[in-house]
Amino acid sequence: MAKVSPMAITVSFINMKGGVGKTTIASQLAHSAARNLKVLAVDLDPQSNLSQSVMGPHAYVNHLKKNRPTIAQVFDEYIPAGGVHGSPRPIDLEEVIVKNAGYWSTSTLDLIPSRLELSRTLKNPTGKERRLAKALTRISDRYDLIIIDCAPTESILTDAAYFASRYVIVPVKPEFMATIGLPLLARSIRDFQLENEDHNIEIAGLVFNHSSSYSNGPEG
Ligand SMILES: Nc1ncnc2c1ncn2[C@@H]1O[C@H](COP(=O)(O)OP(=O)(O)O)[C@@H](O)[C@H]1O
Ligand SMILES: [Mg+2]
Repeated sequence: MAKVSPMAITVSFINMKGGVGKTTIASQLAHSAARNLKVLAVDLDPQSNLSQSVMGPHAYVNHLKKNRPTIAQVFDEYIPAGGVHGSPRPIDLEEVIVKNAGYWSTSTLDLIPSRLELSRTLKNPTGKERRLAKALTRISDRYDLIIIDCAPTESILTDAAYFASRYVIVPVKPEFMATIGLPLLARSIRDFQLENEDHNIEIAGLVFNHSSSYSNGPEG
């Protein structure tokens, strides 16, 4: 598929609350955008729901069994030794991107999958916040849109998403808890912006999801 713009627009789906539809909307948007645009989906959640959704559980499990690289290696910056005699080698992003991974056979959607070992990054996070941004910048001219699906907790991975993104989309379940969570998220982005004036990030919008026309009381 032909590219339409020189550099990809990168958008992160963030909400510190789980179960609000980040992964569902990221996956649906990535698939439908890939009909007309060159799209890369990035799974930045150790739970790896986006990887399973895009690749399908069978292909995803095979990927893990074959020990193929994932986003965890983007943060490690090397690919571990294969076999007894191999030695670790510097990461080549080409090996991490699963090409045409989308669930239609004709889909041109690419994916950087995740795996549970990504949580290692959380244990030893020093100096890793810009590694994803650095890696994506190198391939940004090949895509129109890069969609990053984030984990529901604030961590080094959230900072990594902020550094890599121009925009944030916030899926929201319209309920009372959201009135507490949303100002915290807005403050997190504002604090990040104050500390990193060289990087421009904006909330592109909120997407109300899981709303029920039957709800009343405080939620309604
Ligand atoms: N609009 C919707 N209607 C019905 N079910 C939904 C909707 N959006 C998400 N879900 C379901 O809710 C659950 C949580 O969604 P998910 O996208 O995994 O949330 P998150 O990534 O924010 O944790 C999933 O089982 C998903 O299929
Ligand atoms: Mg999710």
